[in-house]
Amino acid sequence: EAGTRVRIVEVGARDGLQIEREILPPASKIALIRGLADAGLRCIEATSFVSPRWVPQLADAEEVLRAVADLGERGVELPVLVPNERGLERALAAGARSIEVFTSATESFAMRNWNRDLAGVLAMAAPVAAAARADGLPVRGYLSMCWGDPWEGPTEPARVAGIAAELLAMGCDSVSLGDTIGVATAGGVHRLLGAVTDAGIGLEQVGLHFHDTYGQAVSNVQAGLLAGVRTFDSSAGGMGGCPYAESATGNLATEDLVWFLEGVGIDTGVDLPALARVSAEMAGQLGRPAPSAVARALAPH
Ligand code: HMG
Ligand code: MG
Repeated sequence: EAGTRVRIVEVGARDGLQIEREILPPASKIALIRGLADAGLRCIEATSFVSPRWVPQLADAEEVLRAVADLGERGVELPVLVPNERGLERALAAGARSIEVFTSATESFAMRNWNRDLAGVLAMAAPVAAAARADGLPVRGYLSMCWGDPWEGPTEPARVAGIAAELLAMGCDSVSLGDTIGVATAGGVHRLLGAVTDAGIGLEQVGLHFHDTYGQAVSNVQAGLLAGVRTFDSSAGGMGGCPYAESATGNLATEDLVWFLEGVGIDTGVDLPALARVSAEMAGQLGRPAPSAVARALAPH
């Protein structure tokens, strides 16, 4: 449809770097975020304010966020992931203006990622969402394992829809439905969005977060787009994964997403060659090529 606008949430600096064995210095992360902004991305997840004992890769959250805060004046939104009230205090003190809480559709992942049952995870997220909203900040609620879980198998769509409704009720203004381990296919995307709509949730409040384990991420985006979703998460070069999710591999690459969207006539505002240069630089620092086929095809030689 002519004039369709899509919002891309770039998650490489958080979802990408949180799983890297090698801990990059803050300067590399800052350069990554600046490069992404220069390539035209307008919503760039900057870091996460989780326990540095759990995710040492992002222990420099304060330093990184402070160093890129000026991008806010250029119209770049810089959401950060926050697990609990302690994390919110840290994030606000470092100047965060956009908050993300994160939860799970399954009990197994709740225990592994937050050391709590699902009720405990929701109870930890709720005061964060409420406080951030009371401050007038945008709040996004991530929901993981929406199509399947490595320990529990396929996830029931109605269960996902119910938790998504809880996230909105606790103060999130949007939700991101995560295929943490990349098992979704187009039919499953269609079914889950049907359940979400049946639960009374408008698709303008829904984002989709795919990992590309089985190479289905772009096909899943197409299914979401046709159903009416307009927000998609992706990571530069396809970096990413979750340290507490068995078999999680890279995110949908921003290059693949932009290549697809531009191909169907949706203007993303992203300069693809510039983005591919940023990903190539990062791949060089991480010592291996970017997983994304588009990123490799466009990489400077
Ligand atoms: P815990 O160990 O169960 O609980 O951690 P705790 O509350 O007893 O805290 C332990 C220690 O951490 C204490 O320090 C706290 O002060 C400290 P000590 O007194 O022992 O020295 N602490 C903190 N320090 C800094 N910032 C904080 C903070 N909170 C506690 N915010 C906790 C519970 C939730 C903190 C921990 O489990 C945690 O940080 N989990 C986060 C795991 C994570 O980041 N996973 C990756 C992100 S999820 C993902 O990638 C999926 C997504 O991409 C979507 C998708 O793909 O599906 C979003
Ligand atoms: Mg993820």
